[in-house]
Amino acid sequence: MIQKVFVTRKIPQEGLKLLREKFEVSVWPSEHPPSREEIVEKAKNCQGLVTLLSDPIASDLIDQLPNLKVIAQYAVGYDNIDVEEATRRGIIVTNTPGVLTETTADLAWSLIMATARRIVEADRYVRNGNWNVAWGPELLLGADIYGATIGIIGMGRIGQAVARRAQGFNMRVLYHSRSHNGHIAVLERLVGARAASLEILLRESDIVTIHVPLTPETQHLIDEKELRMMKTGSILINTSRGQVVNQDALHRALSTGQLGGAGLDVFEKEPISKDSPLLRLPNIVLVPHIGSASRNTRATMATMCAENIIAALNDEKPPNIVNPEVL
Ligand code: NAP
Ligand code: GLV
Ligand code: GLV
Repeated sequence: MIQKVFVTRKIPQEGLKLLREKFEVSVWPSEHPPSREEIVEKAKNCQGLVTLLSDPIASDLIDQLPNLKVIAQYAVGYDNIDVEEATRRGIIVTNTPGVLTETTADLAWSLIMATARRIVEADRYVRNGNWNVAWGPELLLGADIYGATIGIIGMGRIGQAVARRAQGFNMRVLYHSRSHNGHIAVLERLVGARAASLEILLRESDIVTIHVPLTPETQHLIDEKELRMMKTGSILINTSRGQVVNQDALHRALSTGQLGGAGLDVFEKEPISKDSPLLRLPNIVLVPHIGSASRNTRATMATMCAENIIAALNDEKPPNIVNPEVL
């Protein structure tokens, strides 16, 4: 019998083509996420499900998908999936680690530079016709990146890729992470990266950038108290998950000048609500969760996702299994 796969949004063709060679594939046609009921309706007879980070895959949904063997997340982060419940039911969960590391680190750096040098504000200034004097000695002054201290929270794949780029800017690199490994040891030698407690990192960094996954431990890891520890005028960059930062507390820290600026790719609620007070602050750069959004990377993620489904539905171990204990 030919197995069935439901894909909750149109992902790049490279992945869909691989899936269609082996399975009966249906793809959700809208760019708006399917509701819980719509996922059940489409996936109840499926063995494979491709999900996005904006699809909440909770236990009551999994409950209604009796034929499911694999959930393949089209992202590295999988906090939207109840992995424990999937494991309990013998369902494999996979993700797309590694292929998006450098692309996401590039975006973190784009936000660092745009925020520190006020690029978006400066662009608006020119477009709005405010540039009326040839050269302003004190026009749009920002912060130096070269030689500054960068604090990296979560020294995993993306955190390390951000640290490697910091070497070109002759930065002092502090990091706070859960565990240490050989890759981090290399960066300690190469870049002079130093481990620090979260408090020391926040107190000493000019730029703080977050690269932890969202877990019960990292929910609001950066809250009122942590923001108060940050240097006056320093910059916060978040490309991890919105819920790692208390967004209301961040708004206050930016309004009072405690923080100099922030660059955000991720938000507590996505899309951000149209009346969010963050939208009215000048010293913040906002982009719509585009960390891994390069043409090449999104195509590779699609292929990877398909390969994970193909392996799982062939009773082989998928290359990027998140819950190997299920096998
Ligand atoms: P990773 O390699 O697993 O790195 C995460 C790092 O965070 C690990 O070093 C981990 O330590 C550390 N960590 C976990 N919990 C921690 C805690 N409570 N305190 C301190 N450190 C902690 O993952 P990655 O590939 O770099 O991706 C990181 C996250 O970025 C993803 O989970 C995802 O949410 C987000 N992301 C966002 C985008 C985007 O589009 N904006 C793109 C890709 C990824 P251990 O290894 O010891 O657990
Ligand atoms: C994107 O946010 C990802 O987790 O891949
Ligand atoms: C600026 O353009 C300079 O020459 O310093």
